[in-house]
Formats: sequence, structure tokens, C-alpha cells
Amino acid sequence: MKRLFTVLLALCGAVLPAMADEGMWLPNLIARRIDDMGAKGCRLSAEDIYSVNKASLKDAVVLFGSGCTGELVSPDGLLFTNHHCGYGYIQRHSSVEHDYLKDGFWAMNRTEELPNPGLTVSFLERMEDVTDVVLYGWEPSMGEAARDSVAKANSARLQKEIALPEKGIKASVEALYYANKYYLFVYKVFRDVRLVGAPPSSIGKFGGDTDNWMWPRHTGDFSIFRIYADKDGNPADYSPDNVPYRSRKYLTVSSRGVSEGDFTMVYGCPGSTREYVMSEEVRYIGEVSDPQKIALRTLRLDIQKKYMSRSQAVRIQYSAKNANVSNAWKKWQGESRGVARLHTVAAKQEYERRFSAWAAGGPYEGLVERLGAIYKQREPYYLAYEYFNETVRSLEMLSLAWHVGGALSRGRSAGALAGSFFKDYYEPIDRETFEALLEAFRANMPEDFQPAYFKQQLALHGSVAALAQVVYSRTMFTDSARVAALGPDDLEAVQADPAYLLYKGFSDWVDGDIMPVLRSIDGLLRHANRLYMKAQMEFEPQRDFYPDANLTLRVAYGKVAGYSPSDAVYYRPVSTLKGIMEKDNPDIFDYNIPQSLRDIYAAGGHEDQSVCFLATNHTTGGNSGSPVLNADGELVGINFDRVWEGTMSDLQFDPDYCRNICLDVRYLLFVIEHIGHASWLLSEMDIR
Ligand code: ARG
Ligand code: GLU
Repeated sequence: MKRLFTVLLALCGAVLPAMADEGMWLPNLIARRIDDMGAKGCRLSAEDIYSVNKASLKDAVVLFGSGCTGELVSPDGLLFTNHHCGYGYIQRHSSVEHDYLKDGFWAMNRTEELPNPGLTVSFLERMEDVTDVVLYGWEPSMGEAARDSVAKANSARLQKEIALPEKGIKASVEALYYANKYYLFVYKVFRDVRLVGAPPSSIGKFGGDTDNWMWPRHTGDFSIFRIYADKDGNPADYSPDNVPYRSRKYLTVSSRGVSEGDFTMVYGCPGSTREYVMSEEVRYIGEVSDPQKIALRTLRLDIQKKYMSRSQAVRIQYSAKNANVSNAWKKWQGESRGVARLHTVAAKQEYERRFSAWAAGGPYEGLVERLGAIYKQREPYYLAYEYFNETVRSLEMLSLAWHVGGALSRGRSAGALAGSFFKDYYEPIDRETFEALLEAFRANMPEDFQPAYFKQQLALHGSVAALAQVVYSRTMFTDSARVAALGPDDLEAVQADPAYLLYKGFSDWVDGDIMPVLRSIDGLLRHANRLYMKAQMEFEPQRDFYPDANLTLRVAYGKVAGYSPSDAVYYRPVSTLKGIMEKDNPDIFDYNIPQSLRDIYAAGGHEDQSVCFLATNHTTGGNSGSPVLNADGELVGINFDRVWEGTMSDLQFDPDYCRNICLDVRYLLFVIEHIGHASWLLSEMDIR
């Protein structure tokens, strides 16, 4: 009996809350957590963290671009984010003469700061629960579809009412708790954001994809920007007359550093999590989707690696593509292994049994079974859709043919597309990938989930290899000069090209056979998941549910902590410059540090310079660039990654394995001073 109880407790504990550092909390409700935060060492009040009326920490945190976070660190609009968040902008300013990616970039005064058209940063002015307004006019008897359309219309009206485009005020209504609640988020969006500084990639991306998602880590993953506003402090398009933005709050930088056990808090914009879904969805992700996608990407990465190691030129051409493919590939491995190790599926099934027993005889009776049936029905369609994305849609030349076809049919020419495409295209990689991915598609997708055109082509030519031979020898899309010259008059020829036709065969199939079914199933799923979320909250009235992430501002808190990734191994939570020197290797691209750093180290006195640290904060993609704050709300780090063994935290948080990886802000200060020689930036910060 006692043993059974322990087992049950372990199983429940696995999907039940939310003790140890799990959670991405809504800042406006942080008062509910503040006692727990205090017990863990935090010395802030709820009002210090979020307030509408007075300056609070939230006024120093921004959504950077459309998928990262940033923070203000000076009264003059100076902003920190990650190097990998600023990467695209740094790249756009780079040329052969000024390779800022390679050499770094440091403005030496404000006039040297570089504008970035298209880049915005968004400050949250306020957030509030507007569920009543959004659902005004709807009653349960009207059904779920009516609920969606009422919510959509009311949200649109509300957003329009509140937005003030001339002042840069944007309003957005977001569904939380699977649309059981609707929240209004009011943002002030600035659009003159200038590049101030970036370390060389050999620091900002040190360790590259080899170290990505890993500890010990030694990446100086930061870049520095400045927000500009018009003379009245309002958002404005770029103008030389604009002035640095003076926000009502900026962060104090702590140079005291962190030690194991210290309280930390991450304030930022996590993108997406699925903590409350039923076992079926976790089973699909962990046992079907992740392994299949990992296998497909392994094929691609192996082919890329083979050619990249043979040629420096190819390595440069494919470095960004390779990084992209590899990032999710590694994350999925951690996620899939993580849910297997935690037995998340079994634990959720056990939870569902208890839930169903509770639900019997009430309005939620049969809900879990209904959800399960919907997932079963959806699975082959969703897998086919994912397979399409990871195969045909990832093939370079085939996608080019399709996009050129689209451009020509809209009356445009192919010149621009061709230019950017062929600069980074290496046909042997693409062709070998074509064979590998389409062969996987043929072998792994059930017959009735394969496009008719593809089956017909295979029957005609005999094999994927033979099909590749035909497509690559007859297509015009491997000929850069020819593609560059294509204009609207060539539409017919393009539409008869074998590469275009093959893509079209898959695309027509996805649009015609897969998506319509998927869309209707997804409607049912959304509605059932809304009820399931609602029901779970009634089932466990005492539990504080944080909403799944959706890129809205959240607070996660925990502490600096190492972890044990495997038997007999323990990782300490702070890495140092000594570790960079241990990895330093001029022959390996990812580990070739700048000579200046070697010289500084050799001069002595910097062995203990800390570089990165680990903490138990619950974060995900989108939290990149988020401020990591100490118990007094001072900046001690910048979040930039998680350890791969803990990436199942998007589905289930495990306090033993889930760690976020932070740049130690003291390393940032060190790099500004010793590598960038840009101490003028330090003097505008409040460093304690
Ligand atoms: N894993 C981090 C994230 O998901 C960093 C990615 C960029 N760095 C890289 N080496 N690819 O965004
Ligand atoms: N690197 C991720 C980002 O860009 C953060 C890593 C993660 O926690 O997923 O947001």
C-alpha cells in the first residue's frame, strides 16, 4: 500500500504543479506569487515588478523584433539583447570591407550608431483581463463556433478603439488558457532602433552549433542597440533629428555576480509551451513527430557537413542554413528523450484517469476520450503536413522554382530572388538532399498520404534517384543566369519546368487533401482543449495555473543551480574565461577566439572572469535576450539558451534537468571594455 502510494505520488507529482521553479507567470498577477518569490530570496514587491501607475521593471523590458526580448540599461535608451537576436541586422550592415559579423562593431559615439529599417521594439504599457468585453453577446447555448466569431469581432473592435497609430500605440487581444480568458496588451512600438555594438562572432557565437543547447557554455551572446524617439519622446521613423528615448525605467547593472543558490528572475517574452495538453499530444510529439523530424534533419545535416568540411566556400554558404536546421534538431532530441525519461505520457494518462473519475456524471464526462479520438484522427494528417514541411518545403531548388512561379504570376521578375538564392547555393548538397528526403517520404509516408503526382512520377521513372536525375538535368532552376533573367513572360515555361511541377504536385496535395481536413479537425481540437483547460482548473481549484506561453510578457523565477546530466556527472553553474582558453583552437572555426582575447588572458588576472551561468528559470524560445535579475531586480545576466536535456520543459518542467543558460553580465562589461574599447557605453549605465 505504502509503495503504491509512493508510486502514485510520483506519478501525480510529475504533471502536478508547480512547486520547484516551474512557471511563466503573468506580471499583472505577480502579487499571487510574491510570497513564494520572497521565500526564495526575492526582495522585490509586486509593484516593483509590474505597475501601471508608477515605474516598474516591466518598463525596462521590450519585445525585440518579433521573437526576442531586450532590456533597457541606461537613461538614454541603451538596450541589450542577444547576439543571435541582432544577428540579421549585424549581417545587413556587413560587407567584405566592414565584416561586423566577423570583426564586431562598436560605435564610438552616437553619430556612429547604425539605423535598422524594419526593426521595432515594443514596450508593454499595460495588460488587463478583457474576457467579459471580448465575449460580450455570447452565451454557452450559442456554441463554440459562435464563441470564436463573437470573440474575433469584439477583439477587433477593442483593438481598433485603443490603438493610436500616430503615437505608436498598438493593442492586441490575446487568448490565454486556451481561450478561456482574453487579455488586452497595449504596446508602445518604437521603430528607430540603432545598432550600437556587437562583439565579433568568435565571441558572440563562440562554440557555434557544437555548443548550442549545451553546458559548459562560453558564448558572449549579446548585442547592443539604442532606441530613438522624436523630440516629444514618441515613436517615430528614423530621422537624424531623433533623440535617445528616455523611458521611465531602466535596469541597474550588478557587477557583484552570482553564486549557486542565488535567487534569479527572468522577465521576458516566452514564445510557446504546451503544458496542459493531454497525453496523446505529448505521445505524438515525443514518440512520433520529434523522432521523425530528427531523422529527416539528420539526413540533411550529414549531407551538409560532408560538403562543408571539404570546402571553405561551401562552409560559409551553408553556415546560417546549417545553424537553423541544427537548432531545432538538437532541441527536439532533448525534448523527446526528456518526456521519455519523465514518463510524461504515462503520468498524464494517470492524471486523466483521475480526472475522468472526477468528471463522471458531470458536464466534462467523456471529454478526455473525445480529445483522444480527435488527436487520433488528426495524427496522420498532421504528420503528413509536418513531413511536407521537413522534406519538399526544405528543398532549396524546388522551393525556388515554386517561389519564382509565384513571383512571375504576380507580374514580377525573378532577378532579386535569384541573386540571394544562388549566392548561398551549392547544387551537390541540394541534389543529394533531394534524393535523401524524397526517398524518406516515399518509404515512410503511407501510400494514401502521398501525392498522386509524386506516385505517378515514381512509377514513370522507377525510383527517387532516377527522378532526381530527370529533374536536375532538365530543370532551368539550377542555371543562375537563366533564372535571373526570368520575367512575367516566362511564366508558361516555368509552369512546365519539372522542378516547379514536382513542387506543385506536393503543394496541391497539401492544399487540397491535407489542410482542409486538418483545419476542421483543428477547430474541434481547439474547442475541446478549451473545455479541457477549463475543466482542469475546476478539477484542481487550489492549483495556481500559469497560462501557456504565447510571446506575451512573463516572469519566471528560480535560482542559480548546476545539474547532473547523467550518472556520476555534475555540472557546476558558472563558466569562466579559463574554459574559453581550454576550448580555444585556431583550427576549429567555432572555437577560434580573437587574438586580442588570447593576449588579454596571457597578460594574467582574468582566469576567474565569469562568462555564463545556469539557473532554474522556466524559459523557452522568445526568452532570448531576456534580462536575468537578482533578488533586488538588478541585471546579472542575459538569457540566451537552455540545456538540451531540459528542453521538454515546453511540455513538462523537471526541476532536476531544466536549466536556462545566461550570459553573465560581467562578461558583457569585460568585452565592451577590453575587446570593444567602448567604455563610453559603460559610463551611461548604472553599474553597482
Ligand atoms: N539555442 C538558442 C535558441 O534557440 C540559440 C540559437 C542560436 N545559436 C546557434 N548556435 N544556432 O535560439
Ligand atoms: N535561444 C532561444 C531563443 O532564441 C532560447 C532558448 C530556448 O529556451 O528555447 O529564444
